[in-house]
Amino acid sequence: MTALKNDRFLRALLKQPVDVTPVWMMRQAGRYLPEYRASRARAGGFMDLCMNAEIACEVTLQPLDRYPLDAAILFSDILTIPDAMGLGLYFETGEGPRFRKVVDTAEAIEALPIPDPEKDLGYVMNAVRTIRKELNGRVPLIGFAGSPWTLATYMVEGGSSKDFRKSKALLYDDPKAMHMLLDKLAQSVTSYLNAQILAGAQAVQIFDSWGGSLSSAAYQEFSLAYMQKIVNGLIREHEGRRVPVILFTKGGGLWLESMAATGVEALGLDWTCDLGVARQRVGDKVALQGNMDPTVLYANPAAIEKEVGRILESYGNGPGHIFNLGHGITPEVKPENAGAFINAVHDLSAKYHQD
Ligand code: CP3
Repeated sequence: MTALKNDRFLRALLKQPVDVTPVWMMRQAGRYLPEYRASRARAGGFMDLCMNAEIACEVTLQPLDRYPLDAAILFSDILTIPDAMGLGLYFETGEGPRFRKVVDTAEAIEALPIPDPEKDLGYVMNAVRTIRKELNGRVPLIGFAGSPWTLATYMVEGGSSKDFRKSKALLYDDPKAMHMLLDKLAQSVTSYLNAQILAGAQAVQIFDSWGGSLSSAAYQEFSLAYMQKIVNGLIREHEGRRVPVILFTKGGGLWLESMAATGVEALGLDWTCDLGVARQRVGDKVALQGNMDPTVLYANPAAIEKEVGRILESYGNGPGHIFNLGHGITPEVKPENAGAFINAVHDLSAKYHQD
């Protein structure tokens, strides 16, 4: 395997010294880039793009060719797992993801198969292998999956939801059925992430995009407990290196201590948390990733730099911070503003890493 030329992302995840704060952006390959829109059109559609290893690799590298990012993230989607369980994922233009089949009864949950990652999701592993080869050690490659709770919301609702009416009703009406669904998803996610690691992913992130919609009690029982199961089952060393795990619960600021106790290397924070306070709360346990409000990227470059400076100052001196947005970059952002953001992180952070 080729040696890594830039490993500051992996070093920061392990709280090892770095020269500047590493940075990447959630959803860094996507519609704000005209070259992404061209590749998607050439592939035929979003899922065709995910299933074509060459084009998935091409769009993974597009943001890296534009900006000095410190990590690449596999181009795919969290909804590949429910698709492989037979739900029939499709995208209606401008409407977000939809499923042909909804899973909202105990019987439907019972009938769900647990996908075999190499057999049923082989296209994802092919993309990982192709990207790793093409990266040739430039930066580390992040693999990812959705959390069981976040995946369950899409499966029960049949797509995106604002209030999670059906998924929360099922959780309270029939907690046993919800637990069965979450358990199947935890098993599926564990083997899916392990297959990504064996195929070449050098760190993995679990996206719990909708954990923050739950009450504290429900979060512990229906989201965190299943992420803990996943963490317990993950391969943690590969190619002679630690494979760090990042847990990102959007809206999870109240639960940082219990998230840190799962044994992951890092927590992803949304923009509602104060990074300095979060650092005090988790102590030496985990590194922190985040957390600029993605809408700051609609402002001018000077305002973006100011906000980057404020966040760096709030984390303070020393390693253990990976700069990111507090959620994914949005399609309306001007590409040059993303560039101003990334350059500001590198330019303004050197002084926090001097000893
Ligand atoms: O970060 C990256 O660049 C890697 C690729 C990536 C995508 N989706 C590509 C994508 C990642 C990490 C995801 C994760 C994902 N997918 C999440 C968790 C992260 C989050 O934002 O909370 C969720 C909830 C999904 C489900 C999903 N996929 C939704 C809700 C949508 C539609 C909304 C939207 O942003 O368009 C998608 C589609 C999707 N996934 C797109 C991309 C680039 C846009 C599809 C298109 O090109 O039309």
